[in-house]
Amino acid sequence: MKPFLKWAGNKYQIIERISAALPAGKRLVEPFLGSAAVFLNTHYSAYLLADINADLIALYQYLQTEGQCFIDYCRSFFDPAYNTEATFYQQRHLFNATQDLRLKAALFIYLNKHCFNGLCRYNSSGNFNTPFGKSAKPYFPEKEMVYFQKMAAKASFSHADFITTMRAARSGDIVYCDPPYVPLSSTANFTGYSTNGFGINEQLQLVGLAEALADQGIPVIISNHETEFTRHAYRNAKIISFEVQRYISSKGDQRNKVAELLAIFS
Ligand SMILES: C[S@@+](CC[C@H](N)C(=O)[O-])C[C@H]1O[C@@H](n2cnc3c(N)ncnc32)[C@H](O)[C@@H]1O
Repeated sequence: MKPFLKWAGNKYQIIERISAALPAGKRLVEPFLGSAAVFLNTHYSAYLLADINADLIALYQYLQTEGQCFIDYCRSFFDPAYNTEATFYQQRHLFNATQDLRLKAALFIYLNKHCFNGLCRYNSSGNFNTPFGKSAKPYFPEKEMVYFQKMAAKASFSHADFITTMRAARSGDIVYCDPPYVPLSSTANFTGYSTNGFGINEQLQLVGLAEALADQGIPVIISNHETEFTRHAYRNAKIISFEVQRYISSKGDQRNKVAELLAIFS
């Protein structure tokens, strides 16, 4: 099943490769949940799902607890009257200003489907600032949300930094980590997922935690671009590498093959 949100770096396109590399276990832990492509397309009996983006986790928690009632509420923002530039900026302002967390969660889906390319970008004050997307008819992902809610019966959602989540892993768990990509080149640096950047230090901290968990018998699988940096950083892991077709947005609609890897620490 496709994730119901558009998300930079989502793994839906390569889900077969990832699920083939994940060992069996009781519970899957995902410290970098994003749009949850891996959760939605695997079959563990329990899940610990976390992300540093508080808006994202709050949305998943409303969907988990309220189900259809929340889906109906979210659908009300997909009336064509909401798909104008002026309404978009009003709703974006409301999202940034409101104290009503249920409204904020519903507006997160509205913004995701009505903003430019589904880009989740915040300014330095933590305000969502992606411009209007000018989509002819934004899709309301009803069936994808229904499926998510059904799967969520097996899941616990947590707003947390990856360090906290990885420390919560226990014997019998499998940990799948999908951190923000390392840059492919020095000019392609993208850290716009959240107000917190994710730099080289965090990438190396993640490797240290993965090695420590593997030493305790808890397997950790990390996704990333295949670069000189990741090859070196993941030198103690088993590497599976492959190529993925991607749109490189800085070059218009040009499609390029990008080398990607899975590093298996066990
Ligand atoms: C590549 S995306 C994950 C994509 C996901 N696998 C999917 O299929 O949609 C990386 C995620 O890491 C989250 N993130 C960034 N820094 C983080 C941190 N320090 N701790 C936890 N999550 C973080 C971002 O909010 C983003 O959702």
